[in-house]
Amino acid sequence: MLKPKVFVTRRWPKIAEENLKKKFDVTLNENDKPLSNSELAEAFYHHDALAPTVSDIIDETIIKKGRQGKGKIISNFGVGINHIDIQACKNFDITLTNTPDVLTDATADLTMLLILMTSRRSREGENEIRTGNWTGWKPTHLLGNQLKHKTLGIIGMGRIGQAVAKRAAIAFGMKIKFYNRSKINKNFNFEASQVPNIMDLCKSSDFISLHCPGGINNKHIINYRALSAMKKSAFLINTARGDLLDEDALCKALNEKLIAGAGLDVFENEPNINLSLLNAPNLVLLPHLGSATIETRNAMGNRVLDNLKQFFDNEIPTDQIQFS
Ligand code: DGY
Repeated sequence: MLKPKVFVTRRWPKIAEENLKKKFDVTLNENDKPLSNSELAEAFYHHDALAPTVSDIIDETIIKKGRQGKGKIISNFGVGINHIDIQACKNFDITLTNTPDVLTDATADLTMLLILMTSRRSREGENEIRTGNWTGWKPTHLLGNQLKHKTLGIIGMGRIGQAVAKRAAIAFGMKIKFYNRSKINKNFNFEASQVPNIMDLCKSSDFISLHCPGGINNKHIINYRALSAMKKSAFLINTARGDLLDEDALCKALNEKLIAGAGLDVFENEPNINLSLLNAPNLVLLPHLGSATIETRNAMGNRVLDNLKQFFDNEIPTDQIQFS
């Protein structure tokens, strides 16, 4: 029997690619260069499944073209799906899946990394050594902020938000507050209180960390007004999606010292960086590394594989997105 044809838009770690090849007739984007809209559309036209990543914009033209050809399912390598036109998937009856769970720990770890890097001034410290400006230990040198007893305000208390809260509360002794659109009735094994709105969270937190989905509904939920409400000693962390934050407002807030610092792993126009961010003070920048561990990326590939296997076995894929 002919194997279904799967087009993988970017290279995966070797093990994950090999696992996929055992089950499917796989086409890889051999040289791993980002593909254009028309290349993606053509690929979906000629394949039963498209396996894109966050760096591919999967718009209506691609989905429509797929539907006119062999295309049946988009199995995203990643949890966030705001780069995919969900309405078009619904309209053209294309199944959509993602890879939740498997990247929760990696992303939560990286969030803690940014919390620590910003609060303990690691970028300034490393820079001092690399530029030959370290003059030695002294009691007042590069003093940062301890995490114990500080309040971490989490926006979006889903899987990743909860994993960050657990690390921060249990390992670092932080107090947890969170904002979530719907009420969370869950007993955590640490103390956490839900606040009714983002402004309250901004006013009362020492760190704000974003963990909600990107996309039009949450665009710029952290804007100049929210940043102005934060404590002058507070830090903003974003490992979720770039469009949650108004980057120009962040630069203004950092330059005006309205907040103490920020750590970003995601950007509004990746991989193009708003140049003002490069000159803003007290800002740590990472290139979207949240899920970047070998274990996680292999697990993400295997999750795509499981979803595709289920789909082509006429089962409902575990991670099928329900269209509203
Ligand atoms: C995702 O899966 O949405 C991440 O941003 C990729 O690491």
